Amino acid sequence: MGTMIFAHRGASKLAPENTMPAFELAYHAGADGIETDVQLTKDSIPILIHDENVRRTTNGTGFVQDYTYEEIKKLDAGTWFSTKFSDTSIVALEEFLDWVHDKSIILNIELKNNVIDYKQLEQIVYDHLQKYQVLEKTVISSFNAASMERMKKIDPNVSTAFLSSKKVPDLPNHLKKIGVTGFHTKYRLLNSNLAKACRQHNLALRIYTVNRPMQMKKCFKLKCDGIFTDVPHLAKEYRKLYK
Ligand code: G3P
Ligand code: CA
Repeated sequence: MGTMIFAHRGASKLAPENTMPAFELAYHAGADGIETDVQLTKDSIPILIHDENVRRTTNGTGFVQDYTYEEIKKLDAGTWFSTKFSDTSIVALEEFLDWVHDKSIILNIELKNNVIDYKQLEQIVYDHLQKYQVLEKTVISSFNAASMERMKKIDPNVSTAFLSSKKVPDLPNHLKKIGVTGFHTKYRLLNSNLAKACRQHNLALRIYTVNRPMQMKKCFKLKCDGIFTDVPHLAKEYRKLYK
């Protein structure tokens, strides 16, 4: 199998990240997968937003965990990107899964629990994925190693990945201890030794955020398992050229 192209927060160069327009554009661009970020509201509803604070990507202020779902749904999550998207709201995980579950596209659900370790996030997300029968086409990832250990206890068969933006010493053993089968890391840390080590230990290697043609070329040539890109439509073209 070649390098899978994941739309990072949806097609986030073309539409506001982690919103339905970004997911729809990713799907229509023919992305192999969609990556998105999950945090919990005050009433424990999983929603798709990258930051712990709503300030950057909505017209609100304050932390996600201080909003109820009903309150957060009223925020405008599009105008910061362009007035064209002024009627766009934050998406619940449920809403996203309802739209995506029967589509031929794989998923990477990133648990955003490395800053705020939301109680029960793993179980809540797992239950949603199970309800929509998408576990088999989903990789769950987190920068929080303890969270991935908890996820493995919920279901040892679920596909998981550890995220790190730093070099991890003794990577294969570290990942084995956590119990994950994948490693998601920054483009600048990618080299042939890392690709080789992951292959040798049967670990899936996926790279973020890969937006430039030369970066894509390197990922394709090193046969990385996946890339996360804001421009899936371009990545599809470059994969044809460089595979
Ligand atoms: O999951 C890959 C990538 O999305 C991790 O970094 O900050 O974009 O969530 P970030
Ligand atoms: Ca992410």
